Amino acid sequence: MGNRAIAIIGGSGLTRLEGLDIVRREVVHTPYGEPSGPVTHGLLHGREVVFLARHGYGHTIPPHRVNYRANIWALKSLGVEEVVAVNSVGGISEGLEPGTLAIPDQIVDYTWGRAHTFFDGDGAPVTHIEFTYPYCETLRRRLVEAARAAGVPFRERGTYAATQGPRLETAAEIERLARDGCDMVGMTGMPEAALARELELCYACCAVVVNRAAGRGPGDGRIAMEEIERWLEEGMARVRRLLQELLAGS
Ligand code: HPA
Repeated sequence: MGNRAIAIIGGSGLTRLEGLDIVRREVVHTPYGEPSGPVTHGLLHGREVVFLARHGYGHTIPPHRVNYRANIWALKSLGVEEVVAVNSVGGISEGLEPGTLAIPDQIVDYTWGRAHTFFDGDGAPVTHIEFTYPYCETLRRRLVEAARAAGVPFRERGTYAATQGPRLETAAEIERLARDGCDMVGMTGMPEAALARELELCYACCAVVVNRAAGRGPGDGRIAMEEIERWLEEGMARVRRLLQELLAGS
C-alpha cells in the first residue's frame, strides 16, 4: 500500500499546508473551466502529495461558487487516485464539540444549482453512478486509524449534511437536519464527493467541527464567528497531525 498518488483538498483554515515542501505549482486547465487555483505538488512528511485549496489560496471563493468539477477533473488529470477532503462543519449531534474531527460515512445533499455531474448529456449515454456508500471505505478506515494514532478527539462515522450556504442555517433548519439523521453540517461536501465517484477516485472526508450548529450551542444557540476562527486554527492543527500519521502509515 501507499504508493497511490494522493491529493488533499483543503477547506477553510487550510489554504496552505504547513510543513509541505513545495516542489512546484501547476496551472491546470480543464474542459469545465479553471480549478480554484494552481495545484501544488510537494512533499509532506516525505511523501509526495498534491494539494489544492478549495476556496482559492486567498480564501475568496464561497462554497456555492467553487468549481467542483474543475477541481476534481484537474486532480484526476494529474494521475491522482486518492483524495482526502478536509471540510469544516458545525456539530449537530451530541458530542460533536468544536475541535472534534469526524470521518463521515454518509451524506445527505441539500445543495442546489451547483454543476454537480460530469455526465451532462450532449450525446453521451445516460450514466448513474452507484453511491450507496459515498466515501471510499479503505481510505476512510485509514483516516480513522490515523486519527487514533494522532491522539486527537475524533468520531469514526456520521452523516454529513451538505447545505447551500453561504449563510449559516436557522435553528429550525438544523432541527430538520437532525430529524433527517444528520450529525454534522457543512457547505462543501457536495457535489465534490459525487464528482470524485464519477471519475472513480477513492475519496474520503476529514471533517473538522468548528462550532456547534445553529441552536445547538450554549446560551441562545447563536454561532459566534470568533469561536469559529479559534476552532478553525486548533482544528486544522489536529488535521495536520492526522495527515502526518496518514502519510507515515500508508
Ligand atoms: N453550518 C454550515 N457549514 C459550516 C458550519 C455550520 O454550522 N460550520 C462550519 N461550516
